[in-house]
Amino acid sequence: MKIRNILITGAAGFVGSHLAERLLGEGYRVTGIDNLATGVQKQVPKSVRFFKRDIRDPSIVSLFGNIQAVFHLAAKNCISDCQNDPVETTDINVRGTANVLEACRKANVSRVIVAESSALYEGCTQYPTSEEEVCPQSFYAQSKLAAHALATAYQRYYRLPCTSLRYFNVYGPRQDYRRTIPPAMSAFIIQLLKRQRPVIYGTGQKKRDFIYVDDINDFHLLCLKDRRSIGQTYNLGSGKKYSILQVYRMIDQMLQTGIKPIFKRDLPGEAQVTLADIGKARKLGWKPKTTLEDGLQNSIEYIRRVVVSHQ
Ligand SMILES: NC(=O)c1ccc[n+]([C@@H]2O[C@H](COP(=O)([O-])OP(=O)(O)OC[C@H]3O[C@@H](n4cnc5c(N)ncnc54)[C@H](O)[C@@H]3O)[C@@H](O)[C@H]2O)c1
Repeated sequence: MKIRNILITGAAGFVGSHLAERLLGEGYRVTGIDNLATGVQKQVPKSVRFFKRDIRDPSIVSLFGNIQAVFHLAAKNCISDCQNDPVETTDINVRGTANVLEACRKANVSRVIVAESSALYEGCTQYPTSEEEVCPQSFYAQSKLAAHALATAYQRYYRLPCTSLRYFNVYGPRQDYRRTIPPAMSAFIIQLLKRQRPVIYGTGQKKRDFIYVDDINDFHLLCLKDRRSIGQTYNLGSGKKYSILQVYRMIDQMLQTGIKPIFKRDLPGEAQVTLADIGKARKLGWKPKTTLEDGLQNSIEYIRRVVVSHQ
């Protein structure tokens, strides 16, 4: 079936709003659902048919009529918030996912792409980590594993054509800097631009695989076009790792501040290292294109223009 109409849950969020923009640019019609818990409606492109709805609401099924593909991105996803509220985490990430998958089944959707996370590898010690080596620790990671299991069951029992994507640390303009504890890159950039001392949790030696949001969207488009992705799980990272301190120094050099960070006690439930084995995604013809330097420069320009100048 030709894909024309696409629904995104979490459309007002960081990845969802970029994806909406990209899909519209490719000529698709886009419907967006978001309860605006952390999302921002003005980030949603104007031509998206937008509904402020909760993914746990069974009546969302009425929005899935004539939809051929669904990207399920809505989630409670700040690890420390999830640690503080395991019940709501499970409710949104597990029951909410079941409700979205059920709506997809009822509407006979022909492609379902589900956002998972590198958090599934929190306890792993093999690097780079392949899709097989799952070892979730935190409540967030456990909820994403349960969501994965649900997608697998919908695929098995109802032939729902699902693809699971394990994003590593996605960054770029609009990364959610409003969280209780914002992602490190946004937090560093905002505070250094304001000439404040950013906080590093732990020693700064934790290493992360950072992937630019446009590279993720390249893979999203590939999923729509390549049926080999159905029933598969893919790691989406850059395949390179940088310590938090290295990233701090890069940003500091770009902004030329010389400001020293404040070190605070490490956060619970976080992996020491993440590094994606992206061999499987590469086999589909995908490769990450954006260097960390270029991605950071774009993030700095956005934060300077949109965030700091308005505070
Ligand atoms: N950004 C990353 O680095 C990263 C890494 C791994 C996985 N992920 C996953 O990718 C997806 C998108 O992440 P993001 O960075 O864009 O996050 P985000 O927080 O910017 O977007 C999530 C959106 O979901 C919405 N939402 C939350 N609960 C909802 C509910 N009950 N009903 C409807 N909408 C709801 C929020 O309002 C928000 O707009 C999430 O599933 C996340 O777990 C992201």
